[in-house]
Amino acid sequence: MDRDWRAEFERTYAGSPSAVQERVWRQVFDDEYPEGLDPYSYVSVSELDRFVSEVRLNNDETLVDAGCGRGGPGLFVAAATRARLIGIDIAEAALAAARTRAQAMGIQAHFMLGSFESTGLDDECADAVMSVDALLFTPDKAASLRELRRILRLGGRLVLTSWDYHRQPVGRPPQVDDHRPLLATAGFETEAYDETEDWFERQQRTTELLLEACDELAAESGETEVEMRAQLEEMAATIPTISRRVFVVATAV
Ligand SMILES: C[S@@+](CC[C@H](N)C(=O)[O-])C[C@H]1O[C@@H](n2cnc3c(N)ncnc32)[C@H](O)[C@@H]1O
Repeated sequence: MDRDWRAEFERTYAGSPSAVQERVWRQVFDDEYPEGLDPYSYVSVSELDRFVSEVRLNNDETLVDAGCGRGGPGLFVAAATRARLIGIDIAEAALAAARTRAQAMGIQAHFMLGSFESTGLDDECADAVMSVDALLFTPDKAASLRELRRILRLGGRLVLTSWDYHRQPVGRPPQVDDHRPLLATAGFETEAYDETEDWFERQQRTTELLLEACDELAAESGETEVEMRAQLEEMAATIPTISRRVFVVATAV
């Protein structure tokens, strides 16, 4: 049966960010942990800096963050480039947290419900699109990349992180082993397609530490330890199906 990702992410974002997860991420990422941004992803400080330079934005240009979650990464890039940010996500609870964060950071940004497949945005309204660790959740990567191309102006940049898989992970939407053919078909020229630093060690270590803290995570979320362990083991089981986590830069042509 297909999983209801919207419902799962609404639950994830319903409460405050998990203090236990934050502790684990800090332990694994050390000075590469993006302090104060509450990412729900494996984004690092160096990657965020690379997003800032690769989106190639000027003052008041429009940046769309697709699958923005609580908004931290997109707001970081918008603050650094002085771009106008539109964040879209399928989870209203994420958008509410993102709006609060934008207000606290004093940044004008618009966060709205939308998906990769159907953003709800106008043709060519974006000067750049970014996305952090979210594209894997769409069931149709080809249609999603076509939609991102539709909202980007000619010459605009798409910058994202996601994963290539050599085997379909159980319980996840259909994955691909290489996004480049899909990017080309959607109307993008791929500028960079780089395996991200230490992705395997970071994900492996994070999962190990989360499993060690299973009782604390269960207490924090209100779930039983059995439920929490099952979720973490499901997450651990996807790691051997991944061939690489990639940092992708593409231009709309
Ligand atoms: C791993 S989180 C990353 C969130 C954020 N980019 C960050 O770095 O904190 C994945 C995000 O993708 C969103 N998402 C899942 N399926 C989506 C879809 N089909 N369209 C848009 N967003 C989606 C989820 O709600 C979630 O916020």
